[in-house]
Parts: sequence; C-alpha cells; structure tokens
Amino acid sequence: MFSLKNKVAVITGGGSGIGKAIALLFAQQGATIHLVELNTEAADQVIAEANSSGGKGQVHAADVSNQQAVSNVFNQIGHIDILVNNAGIAHVGNVENTTEADFERVYNVNVKGAYNCLFAAIPLMKAQGGGVILNIASIASHVGITDRFAYSMSKGAIYAMSLSVARDYIDHHIRCNSISPARVHTPFVDGFISRNYPGKEAEIFEKLSKSQPIGRMAEPSEIAALALYLCSDEAGFITGCDYPIDGGFIKLNN
Ligand SMILES: NC(=O)c1ccc[n+]([C@@H]2O[C@H](COP(=O)([O-])OP(=O)(O)OC[C@H]3O[C@@H](n4cnc5c(N)ncnc54)[C@H](O)[C@@H]3O)[C@@H](O)[C@H]2O)c1
Repeated sequence: MFSLKNKVAVITGGGSGIGKAIALLFAQQGATIHLVELNTEAADQVIAEANSSGGKGQVHAADVSNQQAVSNVFNQIGHIDILVNNAGIAHVGNVENTTEADFERVYNVNVKGAYNCLFAAIPLMKAQGGGVILNIASIASHVGITDRFAYSMSKGAIYAMSLSVARDYIDHHIRCNSISPARVHTPFVDGFISRNYPGKEAEIFEKLSKSQPIGRMAEPSEIAALALYLCSDEAGFITGCDYPIDGGFIKLNN
C-alpha cells in the first residue's frame, strides 16, 4: 500500500521541516522528487539523504512567488503526478501592527506562491489525464489564533483555493485536498519564536506545545504520513477535503 513508484512529485519548500519530511517519505515510497526551494543548500542535503537510501530527485532553485520562475521549472519537469504546495512563511501580528510590507510578503509567498504552482501544474496534469494536489493549510484556516492576522489570511486562502481547484478539475481526474496542522516542531516554529520572543524561547515553546490538548507539537514525519496517504492511489475517492492534524486543537480545546 501507499506506493508512489513511477510517480513524479513536486514539493515546494522541500528543504526543511514538513516539506523535507514529505520529500524523504515520498522518495522512500518510490517517487522521483523535485524540490522547489529558495534554500538550495538545504534542498541539496535532502536529495543527498534520499539518494543514500535509494531515492531519486532534483533541486530547482526558485522563489514560488515568481510566476515566470515557477512556470519555467514546472515546464522543465514536464510531467507532474503530485504537487505539494508546502512553501510558506510565518508572521506574528494583529491588523494594527501588520504593515503593508508584512502583509504583501506573506501574501506573495503563501497565497500567490500556491497559485503560481497551481497555475503551472494544472495544464500539465490535464494533458496527462490527472494528478493529485495537496496544499498545506493550517489550523489558522479554521479558528481565530491570537496575533496571526496576515498568516490566517494566507491560510484561509489556501483552504478556499483547494476547494475551488477540487471542484473545477474533478472531471479532469485531478484531486485536490489540504492538510491543516497545528504546531509542528520545525525550524519555522523555532524561527518565529526566537524572532518574536527573544529571551522567552523556552517559555513560549512550552506554551505552544501545551496549546495542543495532546500536550506536544507534531513531528514533521506525522504530517508526512498523512500527506503520503492523501497523495497515494489508495486515497482515490478523496477530493475537496481538509484534514486537521492537530492533537485536538480545533475540537478538544475547552
Ligand atoms: N510548523 C508549523 O507549526 C506549521 C503549522 C501549520 C502549517 N504549517 C505550514 O507548513 C508549511 C511548511 O512549514 P515548516 O514549518 O516546515 O517551515 P520551514 O520554515 O521549516 O520550511 C519552509 C521551507 O520553505 C522554503 N521557502 C520559504 N519561502 C519560499 C519561497 N518563496 N520559495 C520557495 N521556497 C520557499 C524555505 O526555504 C524552507 O526550506 C508552511 O506552509 C507553513 O505555513 C506549519
């Protein structure tokens, strides 16, 4: 079960955290992985790790917010069975302290970046008779999280874009779903804690861990396991769905 043999998978932001875990698991399951990354050094290490256990793949240096760059990369790959829109950045702030530049930066990567990849991948998937898209949303797509104004805007858009794409391309055999993780222990979380709460890192880490009723953050490999299922042929009846993977955050926080 869950073999990705002979599949070509594109994972944006595959050099770190959740994207890295997805890339390594997909390669282990037989997919050829293509990592679209800003941080090519980190992505090269992921490909080296995949190669060392028999996997194969390639790094493509591109900023997902640049439509031309994304189109060039996707057209060069040519055939894409699986697209994982994972690249994303964080931002902490409410409406009043989110500047126009902050808002646009988060929008450009998290929203426009996903759109650019959809825009480039869907014609390829249509031409080849189908494909699978998985978008990484967040609990912030669904509930009000303190001080995550711009980030929530971007993840709400990911959720809505997933539904729109699932509806529009169902007859082209393209499935599109999203995953909504609560806190996952990745460099993304460590980075925003150290940037926004200097000197209080341990306290904030503990607080964020406890905000999941299960009492901890997720591991990237736990997100990758769900991603594998949703991108595999075994999930062929699933489209237009969002899957919270949240240690009880959405439903059990009382
Ligand atoms: N970590 C969490 O708690 C958490 C929770 C919910 C959702 N998410 C989402 O999961 C995704 C991955 O998060 P993570 O924690 O693994 O992050 P991370 O920072 O560890 O990794 C993100 C990767 O994306 C790459 N990237 C960033 N901007 C890019 C761009 N413009 N073009 C190409 N690559 C780019 C980075 O270089 C990095 O390697 C994000 O979309 C994030 O919003 C994370």
